[in-house]
Amino acid sequence: MFPPPPQSQDADSPVRLTDTDAALARLSAVQKRYLEDLYIKHLVPRAHLQSPRPPLINIGTYVRATAIDELVFQWLQTSADRGMRCQIVSLGAGSDTRFWRIATGAQKHALAAYIELDFPEITSKKAMAIRKSKDLSAVLGNPADVMVVHGGTGLKSLTYHLIPADLRLPPADTLSKLLASEGGAILSPTLPTLLLFECVLVYMAPSASSAVLKWFMDYFSSSGILGSIVYEMFRLQDSFGRVMVENLKARHISLPGAVPYPDVASLPGRFLNIGFTAARALTLKEIKKSCISHAELERISQLELVDEVEELDLVLEHYAITWGLFAPQSSAGAAWGKWGLSVKDTAQVDEDED
Ligand SMILES: C[S@@+](CC[C@H](N)C(=O)[O-])C[C@H]1O[C@@H](n2cnc3c(N)ncnc32)[C@H](O)[C@@H]1O
Repeated sequence: MFPPPPQSQDADSPVRLTDTDAALARLSAVQKRYLEDLYIKHLVPRAHLQSPRPPLINIGTYVRATAIDELVFQWLQTSADRGMRCQIVSLGAGSDTRFWRIATGAQKHALAAYIELDFPEITSKKAMAIRKSKDLSAVLGNPADVMVVHGGTGLKSLTYHLIPADLRLPPADTLSKLLASEGGAILSPTLPTLLLFECVLVYMAPSASSAVLKWFMDYFSSSGILGSIVYEMFRLQDSFGRVMVENLKARHISLPGAVPYPDVASLPGRFLNIGFTAARALTLKEIKKSCISHAELERISQLELVDEVEELDLVLEHYAITWGLFAPQSSAGAAWGKWGLSVKDTAQVDEDED
């Protein structure tokens, strides 16, 4: 008789490994000068030995990062314009460096709290990397104000919080206790708050994602403003999408969160169906064409040779950014009504392309 196959690590380990893919993609886009990020190298082991990703991946990473940066920039700016500070909660944050980029940038004073959640295996690795790197830990502020928490799997500082959590569990057992427990709540229910879900909800059942969003809506329903950004793949029912699904299946990764979204028109429903006041979605192809300046497109076109233009478009058509606003009070909500990616008019786009 054959022995049983070796017990592979736990079932979530392939999903956790997607963080390595995301971090390597960002590092590559930085190495190739698509993006600037002084911090990512501290979060990728042996960063200097990693080889760059293909141009298609670099361009996708650039378009996604540029669009999300713009939405986050606008959120911070709108808060600052209203004389308020805001909160950002990044769910499935992985090795993301956004906190460090904001906390060392021109908008740092608009940030009241930045909270990152991920599986404990990921947060403990990140906590360790932060403590090991002077560049990362210096941004957290006075060392006396930085504490290792949750048995070494989390960090707590004046502004930055790194917290272990499985987002599929009932929010009453996780988010309520971790973010909102009375007396020590780290999330204020009254400050404008932006949720970031960069390539995470797609790995969860839609019911679990809705439960997370609803928990935040409830928390902000009496006096807050809530924004949310989701970036992920969709349209997986067509032939290109089916190949993506098969490739991921070979890595033991499934994408239950993409099932309700066969086309771009279906994406805002993620927010609107549960009571958000506004939502919109654009594919990365549309964003590249209509939201990025001609000068930037010109600049990135000179970084690398791209042979597979049609394949690039196909890839970019299967990823989208959806943003939603929950503004329970109409007067406060009006100030946030302009929040969103703005699309250049078609005539301008055509002119740019000539
Ligand atoms: C593709 S990575 C993206 C990381 C980061 N948001 C970025 O864009 O660079 C997906 C991340 O979601 C996390 N994740 C997936 N499912 C999760 C869950 N149920 N609870 C907490 N984190 C989860 C993974 O551990 C991983 O860090």
